[in-house]
Amino acid sequence: MSTLPTPPRPARVVVGVTGGIAAYKTAELVRLLVKDGVTVDVVMTQAGTRFVTPTTFQALSGRAVLTDLWASGTDNAMGHIGLSRGADAILVAPASADFLAKLANGHADDLLSTLCLARECALLVAPAMNVQMWNHAATQRNVARLREDGVTILGPGSGDLACNEVGDGRMLEPEDLRAALTALRSPKLLAGRRVLVTAGPTFEAIDPVRGITNTSSGKMGFAFAQAAAEAGARVTLVAGPTPLRTPPAVARVDVRSAADMAQAVLDRVDDADVFVAIAAVADYTPAAPSERKLKKSGEALTITLQPTVDILATVAARPSPPYCVGFAAESHDVLENAETKRKRKKLPLLVANRAQDALGSDDNEVTLLDDAGAHPLPRMDKRSLGRRLVEEIGIRLPRAP
Ligand code: CTP
Repeated sequence: MSTLPTPPRPARVVVGVTGGIAAYKTAELVRLLVKDGVTVDVVMTQAGTRFVTPTTFQALSGRAVLTDLWASGTDNAMGHIGLSRGADAILVAPASADFLAKLANGHADDLLSTLCLARECALLVAPAMNVQMWNHAATQRNVARLREDGVTILGPGSGDLACNEVGDGRMLEPEDLRAALTALRSPKLLAGRRVLVTAGPTFEAIDPVRGITNTSSGKMGFAFAQAAAEAGARVTLVAGPTPLRTPPAVARVDVRSAADMAQAVLDRVDDADVFVAIAAVADYTPAAPSERKLKKSGEALTITLQPTVDILATVAARPSPPYCVGFAAESHDVLENAETKRKRKKLPLLVANRAQDALGSDDNEVTLLDDAGAHPLPRMDKRSLGRRLVEEIGIRLPRAP
């Protein structure tokens, strides 16, 4: 059995909340971080407390919420500096236009701005404001200056704003902010590597409104793509039909059928160092899909299916293939069948699991198969498994030339 690296340790993060309606999304972010095992200290500006109360954040973080530079009760007068010294990052979300102006000019007239100025850790800000405020020359100047100062600007996103306008200014979603913090903590195991991933089901048309598909949710492939991007890889995700959101910093190519997926992969594989085939690709497709909707006749209907291209085997058989990783969902004799598949497809690494366990579920229990044998991993959620697979691939990859 191999010795496996441990995942990144939980960190301590200061979450700063300034005045903006998006503060309600920060409550969800704090909940997610705490669930990840992160210790979260919430610091609010006076304006921030107008939108969500400190009690809400205290309940979610399980820790006292700080709002006042002059509050007594800290162990010494430099409590604010201590708070940032122990932290891995300060994330200000939402960051109002006023707070960005303050930061850009080095003001320190409340606890949060003082903390930001006195920090030794990374500072990330997630702006949230009305579109005109965001586009104003003064805000853009402040943001440019903050970037020069090494502050990471997360978003803003585009869409419906609380002021009933549409445009730039929406705070990024809690999941995206969590991913940015995770990326900060992840070892950059795949820095500079180009990773091509397939994910989700495929859809094989029978006629314009019907087709053959399967119950793959795409969650495993999307979780892996996100983890690879967080580990510094340039990730292209070829996705079958799924409503999942594209992970931050991942290039997504949407496809429908197995043939589309094969084409999308073969068009891009020359540029890939690693190819990870997580999609549940249909093995068969209707030989002659009808251009018209089929009418029922009352008789039995026979549809002739023909095999699809095995994308993974095709890529692995190339003269100098990328590092190829396959997945095998088996219902019986999991390890024997999976190892046979690994040998047949000539893969250095294959991830085997029970089909009944994997499809559609939020967690998974897998065994890695490589030339050294079988390495079972404990059951874990798919996000954790995505990160773990990145580590497993990272330590096995041939060194970059
Ligand atoms: N795969 C692929 N292209 C296909 C079929 C499968 O790239 N047309 C990839 C999957 O993404 C997965 C691996 O091959 O990484 C295993 O797929 P699976 O369907 O389990 O294996 P098959 O070789 O099709 O064997 P069988 O269905 O008979 O178990």
